[in-house]
Amino acid sequence: MEIIHRITNIFQNTFGYAPAHIARAPGRVNLLGEHVDYNDGFVLPAAIDRATYIVFSPASTPHSTLVAVDLNQQASFSPQAIPSKTQTDSSPLPDWAHYPAGIMWTLLEESLSAPAMNAVYASDVPRGSGLSSSASVEMAFMIAWQTIGGWALPPMQLALLAQKAENQYVGVNSGIMDQFASACGMENKLLLLDCRSLEWQTVPLPESVSIVIADTTVRRNLTSGEYNKRRAVCEEAVRYLQMDLPQIKSLRDVSADDFNRFAEKLPGEAAKRARHVVEEIERTKQAQALLEAGDVQLFGRLMNECHVSLRDLYEVSCAELDAMTRIAQSIDGCHGARLTGAGFGGCTVNLVERESANHFASSLAKKYEIETGLRPQVYISRPSKGAELL
Ligand code: GLA
Repeated sequence: MEIIHRITNIFQNTFGYAPAHIARAPGRVNLLGEHVDYNDGFVLPAAIDRATYIVFSPASTPHSTLVAVDLNQQASFSPQAIPSKTQTDSSPLPDWAHYPAGIMWTLLEESLSAPAMNAVYASDVPRGSGLSSSASVEMAFMIAWQTIGGWALPPMQLALLAQKAENQYVGVNSGIMDQFASACGMENKLLLLDCRSLEWQTVPLPESVSIVIADTTVRRNLTSGEYNKRRAVCEEAVRYLQMDLPQIKSLRDVSADDFNRFAEKLPGEAAKRARHVVEEIERTKQAQALLEAGDVQLFGRLMNECHVSLRDLYEVSCAELDAMTRIAQSIDGCHGARLTGAGFGGCTVNLVERESANHFASSLAKKYEIETGLRPQVYISRPSKGAELL
């Protein structure tokens, strides 16, 4: 593979010897269940055929040296400097290095061995696009440290540790979906996860359809601030609803009927956000039966409804995501289209008749460019394997 070849050469030139190992961890796309993982709901993601690749070896120095090829930057840090987020030369760790340093931090917290390493990495998951490029970096480093640390944990445990790094070291209060999908992905399968019990199963992607991912190419700043705010408002909604429904622990426990009875007691913003979550969880509960029955039409309708809800109630869409979704829904063969991931720019996910997928992709790209003046990236994707040592 070209990307592995490239990072291997850079490793050789940087460190003067060949790397011992290669790790790969995919990004993910989410079909249904958006902004519900941190409300104990159900999600339906798949790992995709785009990934972060790391070539690495144990280092003979006390510090780890990492090269981020896509950014053309290098950073080095030792375990002692992890808490202060500084490099070996005392300068601040660059933001991108918080992800690998966060993994080392979480492993040290768990008393798991995270020896110094030399590593070079690159990714073909577009950054900040809603396809979990950061979770794929985290999971790839998790596999790398597991390899040279000489321990082994089940994929779900690795995902939970990576989520802890993201929450507590990087400072984004994300749920478990992204790391889970990157860790546990399976070829040609969607993954249905109960974010409360962490039980999961695979759901087959019906043979007749393809997943098409469309990148608006729009990136918003301050995404993590808005994300953390949404999460806090959901917690606020739970506190209000607990006055009438004392048994609930999260929005997962609130039925649509109960929500309708008490919604007016919530402040306006909390009522809108919570309604999205309650109704989205209801939608994901229907997903498995629909997909198993091959009812892609009805499933696609749920995707369309999800987009409307993310746009109007959760307010995480933007003009370009709305345009991409609207255009997609007007093209023949498209069963459903919606923004995927946290929102605020990035990608849409589309469920499209397999036979129409190529035509759909080119037509969507053309029409989006005419309407917005932006040249999108549109590609047909395939559910792929989770994080692994190659
Ligand atoms: C981001 C987070 C996930 C999830 C999605 C929205 O990708 O990392 O945990 O909350 O947003 O569904």
